[in-house]
Amino acid sequence: MTLAGTHIERQSFGATPEGKPAEIFTLSGEGGLTVRITNYAGAIVSILAPDRAGRKADVLLGFASLPDYVADDSYQGALIGRYGNRIAKGQFTLEGRTYTLARNNGENHLHGGPRGFHRAIWEPRVKEGAGGAALELTYVSQDGEEGYPGTLTARVVYSLEGAAGLRIDYTATTDKTTVVNLTNHAYFNLAGEGSGDVLGHEMQIEADQFTPVDKTLIPTGELRSVRGTPLDFSKPMPIGARISDPDEQIAIGAGYDHNFVLRGPTGTLRLAARVVEPKSGRVLEVLTTEPGIQFYSGNFLLGGPKGKAGKPYDRRTGFCLEAEHFPDSPNKTGFPPVVLKPGETYRQTTVYRFTTAP
Ligand code: GLA
Repeated sequence: MTLAGTHIERQSFGATPEGKPAEIFTLSGEGGLTVRITNYAGAIVSILAPDRAGRKADVLLGFASLPDYVADDSYQGALIGRYGNRIAKGQFTLEGRTYTLARNNGENHLHGGPRGFHRAIWEPRVKEGAGGAALELTYVSQDGEEGYPGTLTARVVYSLEGAAGLRIDYTATTDKTTVVNLTNHAYFNLAGEGSGDVLGHEMQIEADQFTPVDKTLIPTGELRSVRGTPLDFSKPMPIGARISDPDEQIAIGAGYDHNFVLRGPTGTLRLAARVVEPKSGRVLEVLTTEPGIQFYSGNFLLGGPKGKAGKPYDRRTGFCLEAEHFPDSPNKTGFPPVVLKPGETYRQTTVYRFTTAP
């Protein structure tokens, strides 16, 4: 349910180095959540959420100005496409043709390539509906862009939902057979961005299995039980409790950087993860229609532009829960398919819900 009171204010957010103007949109709802989003990268810029005493903090990592987003290479808050996460060796075969993509992560392709959707200015539209205002962002990715076949029209609607939920509805259509896997790369720190590391956050993931990876973070194709491994988050566990365990998968990721196989049917909006920050009592619940979620513990955050709180973000000062299809699915016949054909509509919905625990 979208609250009737949701309203959106828009302001200039400067211009990209190519001179394209950007805007920033402030969504505020009756549930007490305030969210700012820019149409550069479709990035979420800030989320103000109350703690158990009602004190608000910005629980999202991000930057104060557009040049910082342009300079950033950690995908802060950004929409990711055409393919979230990795494609092995930047290659896949579709309908008998092999496509070659940029190798921008060692020998692999990551997050749609250097000019992926996180570098685009999205066309914004504020939609007024019975349930209040929502922000619709559209990006038309050209046939051949970053090596992918087909003109892909991607549309993302951000809205506030329920007491304190940020809902993201994605759709996409194509004019040629292609692959698509859209997500959002928000980094959270429920104690407040810039307040230190996230190792004390208690993580629970609705998964019994994960997809183990090789040394270059490409899934081997196996679905492995989380039981008895540092990746068992079936019960709440501090992120830091086992992050330095002598474990091959932890070593490869330099911490957590793994796709979890979510329980329950793909296509149904269901709980994927629940994170509690014990001191503030803030709780983040992630619901999604996707088959997987990438839990990334911010292992490669280091330096970069100054965050909103005035200092660059250090290692593990934010975590990501990227709801998506499994990495390298175009090359893995056993994984849920990511192929989109003309006439079909790709859909995914993810909700970030903020509550508090006593
Ligand atoms: C994803 C990847 C990580 C890393 C981050 C961005 O989470 O899985 O390996 O690339 O994005 O730094």
